[in-house]
Amino acid sequence: MNNKKFTIKKVHINSSSVDIDWADGEISYFHFLWLRDNCPSSLHPNARMRIFNILDVSKNIHPIKYSINNDGNLILDWSESNHQSIYLASWLRDHCYTIKSKKKFQSPYLLWDASVKNNLDNFKIDHEEVMNSDEGLLKWLEKLHTFGLAILTNCPTKKNSAFKILNRISHIRETFFGTPFEVINIPKPNNTAYTADALRNHTDLPYYEYAPGYQFLHCLINDATGGMSSTIDGFAVANHLRKENPETFNLLTDTYVKFKDEDYTQNKTRIFHSPLITITKDNDFNDIRFNMASMSILDIKPNKMKKFYDAYRKLASLLHDKKFIVNFRLEAGYIFSFNNRRVLHGRTKFDPNSGRRHLQGYYLDRDEVVSRLNFLKKIRP
Ligand code: OGA
Ligand code: ZN
Repeated sequence: MNNKKFTIKKVHINSSSVDIDWADGEISYFHFLWLRDNCPSSLHPNARMRIFNILDVSKNIHPIKYSINNDGNLILDWSESNHQSIYLASWLRDHCYTIKSKKKFQSPYLLWDASVKNNLDNFKIDHEEVMNSDEGLLKWLEKLHTFGLAILTNCPTKKNSAFKILNRISHIRETFFGTPFEVINIPKPNNTAYTADALRNHTDLPYYEYAPGYQFLHCLINDATGGMSSTIDGFAVANHLRKENPETFNLLTDTYVKFKDEDYTQNKTRIFHSPLITITKDNDFNDIRFNMASMSILDIKPNKMKKFYDAYRKLASLLHDKKFIVNFRLEAGYIFSFNNRRVLHGRTKFDPNSGRRHLQGYYLDRDEVVSRLNFLKKIRP
């Protein structure tokens, strides 16, 4: 424990905040309502949910007295309801929004390009290791979160056997394709993935408001000629575009395009509008939705159509550029796992008469991967 960091040197009650000087020189300003709202007694002990109602105090509530107890923690007596709050100094310091707001945002993502293809081992992790230890699970989740890509190796190749390892993370995200979805060449397919044709690089299911966050393609057998896999970091491409061609980048983040699914097995018509690239409140990348096959008939303003097509073609060509693409062969016993809202995937065509090719696919929401990772890393809100 860093003693100075967690030692309160001086307390000053201001007109609207309690100001703390810490022994290491940092200063915190804690607003009265923030403090009252976050009194430890505000939380349900098991559910860890707030039971305190912010409307049960007035907006003028303020501390009438403060003291530091023998353990160095802060005690406040409030002007309303005779309430007293005790705050651990370490809790105050860990949750200090004055200090937090000074820190520059750091993206959790590590971007990659074609140069990683000579070192794919960095993305690989053994099935056993993930099944048998939380350290292994953590490694897998960290790869998924930071690179958006991981390949599990030496997995069993029995049908449906991936449930076990996916449930190490959480429950499955269901879709109308069923779980698992069978990636095989079938007559009358309801998706072009269920043919022997090539698939351009794409993200799956862009016509869902909440497109599945992670995808897992479990290779049971891949003896056919062809059917090579490709993958590409969509965030790396977006980053390149943002630097090299900001106008195109802005157009792609501003323009809502239409995605759809209306396959013949459905009694539903799915339509969703979204930009191809979205960004977060911190200006980091949020997601990429890119799927030429699921793009609907565009209905953007006439004066934007030409510019949009120029930008769309630029993005499409970068998403198939050898500077960024990694080609590899999915072997039986691999689970190709990736962030479906960042990393695109594709395949070359295969010859179904030359041998069998069968993948089983699963989805998980991004929430499940990130929240499991937070838990294992002991990150608290
Ligand atoms: C899919 C898909 C790729 C492959 O099923 O969504 O893109 O290698 N499959 O068959
Ligand atoms: Zn796909």
